[in-house]
Amino acid sequence: MLYTFFTRSLFLVFVAVLVVYNSTSLPAQAANIDPYIARYLHITEPIALDMDGQGNIRLFSPSELSIGKQLFENNCINCHVGGATLPDPQVSLSLKTLAGAKPPRDRINALVAFMRQPMTYDGSQETYWCRQLSPNFLSQQQVESLAAFVLTAAQKAPGWGTENF
Ligand code: HEC
Repeated sequence: MLYTFFTRSLFLVFVAVLVVYNSTSLPAQAANIDPYIARYLHITEPIALDMDGQGNIRLFSPSELSIGKQLFENNCINCHVGGATLPDPQVSLSLKTLAGAKPPRDRINALVAFMRQPMTYDGSQETYWCRQLSPNFLSQQQVESLAAFVLTAAQKAPGWGTENF
């Protein structure tokens, strides 16, 4: 009698732990990944992105890309909705346009450098049109997440950066 009571309570404790574990860990994990990342960018696990055009890559997780998307929405979307550039449609965020800049911007380090100090398309001088991101405002990690989102969207999002809409 005492024995069954003991095993039964042990079993109940086990069930309770399982329920609590599932209800805390799973939704929390799903919550920080933006559904857009899986649905439109088709990314459900870490993705390797080109850092410098010289073979160095770094992995970016779906949650880092979600942080990048959030930063993009908060700071860039007014001028760059859907990857277009409203004040200067020629200089869109499409992969082809990024790759054609001097120096090419279709890689993480070059995008980060641009965001820290925006330059004209031919790289000859600073531009005041785009938004400059100082280290006080966004950390290196945040700017890399933002660059990873822009680059992945340029690679994968349908219609990203198309000049006519
Ligand atoms: C006030 C409008 C505005 C905002 C806000 C803005 N940009 Fe820009 N961006 C521009 C313009 C205009 C250009 C083209 C500048 C030029 O070539 O002189 C540009 C250029 C760029 C380019 C280069 C594109 C290429 O093909 O070479 C990138 C990358 C970029 N912006 C990223 C961003 C990101 C990321 C943010 C948010 C942190 C941002 N921009 C916020 C207006 C803006």
